Amino acid sequence: MSKKYALVTGSSSGLGLEITQYLLEENYIVYGGSRRGTDISHPNFIDLELDVTDEESVANMFDEIGKDTFGLNLIVNNAGIFEMGSVNETDSEMFNDHLQTNVLGCFHILKHSYDFLIENKTHVISISSIASKRGFPNVAAYCASKFGLNGLIESTREEWKSLGIKFSTLMPGAIDTPIWESISDDFERSKMLDPEDFIHVFDMVVKAPIDMQFPEVRFLHRSGAIE
Ligand SMILES: NC(=O)c1ccc[n+]([C@@H]2O[C@H](COP(=O)([O-])OP(=O)(O)OC[C@H]3O[C@@H](n4cnc5c(N)ncnc54)[C@H](OP(=O)(O)O)[C@@H]3O)[C@@H](O)[C@H]2O)c1
Repeated sequence: MSKKYALVTGSSSGLGLEITQYLLEENYIVYGGSRRGTDISHPNFIDLELDVTDEESVANMFDEIGKDTFGLNLIVNNAGIFEMGSVNETDSEMFNDHLQTNVLGCFHILKHSYDFLIENKTHVISISSIASKRGFPNVAAYCASKFGLNGLIESTREEWKSLGIKFSTLMPGAIDTPIWESISDDFERSKMLDPEDFIHVFDMVVKAPIDMQFPEVRFLHRSGAIE
C-alpha cells in the first residue's frame, strides 16, 4: 500500500488536534503545524513550527516537509482565530488579526503547497464556518474573514482545476472546542456540536469517491445557529 501524506494547520488544539488523530488512525503520515506545538507522540506524526501569518514560517515548514516527500494527498486548512465584538468596539488590530490568520494564512499555505500537489489526487479541505455564509451580530471580523476565505478557495479551485485538485470546504456551526474559552458571552455548550460530530462529517468527505469534491458542506446542531 502506498503512503498517504497529509498536512494539518492548527494541529495543536480543537478540531485540528481531532483531525490529526483521526488521520493517524487512517494510516496517514501527518505533518501538523502550529505555533504552540502539538502534543502527539506517534511514529507517523511530524510536529512542525508554523505561524500561518508569516510567509517565511510557512516556507520553512514546507522545506521541512520537502525533506520527506514530494507530494501531499491531503491539505487541511484549519488554523483560525475567533473573537467577538461589536463593529463600533472592534479595533482595527483585532479585525486585521482575523484577516491575517483566517485569509492571508490560508493564502500562504495554498501558495507554498503548489509544489506538493499531486495531479488528480490532492484534496484540499478547508475549515470555514457557517459564519462564511451569513452575518451574525458581534462577529463582523470573523465573518468578514471567513467570507474572504471562501473567495480565496473558490478562485484557487478554478486555477487548479486543470491539475485535478479537489477542494472541499466545511462550514460548521458552533462546535465545543477551546476556541470558545476566550469568549466572555455565556453560550450554551449543550447547543454546540461535539468534535466527534465534526469528525463524522470529515470522515465522509475524506473517504468520498476519488472524483468527488464538496464545495460547501454546511452542518449545525439541531437547535439551530448560536447567536
Ligand atoms: N469551534 C467552532 O465552533 C468552529 C465553528 C466553525 C468553524 N471553526 C473553525 O475551525 C478551525 C479550528 O478551530 P477550533 O475550534 O479547533 O479552535 P482552537 O481550538 O482555538 O484551535 C485553533 C488552532 O488554530 C491554530 N492557529 C491559530 N493561529 C495560528 C497561526 N497564526 N499559525 C498557526 N496556527 C494557528 C492554533 O494553534 P497555535 O495557537 O498553537 O498556533 C490552534 O491549533 C478554525 O478555522 C475555526 O474558525 C470552528
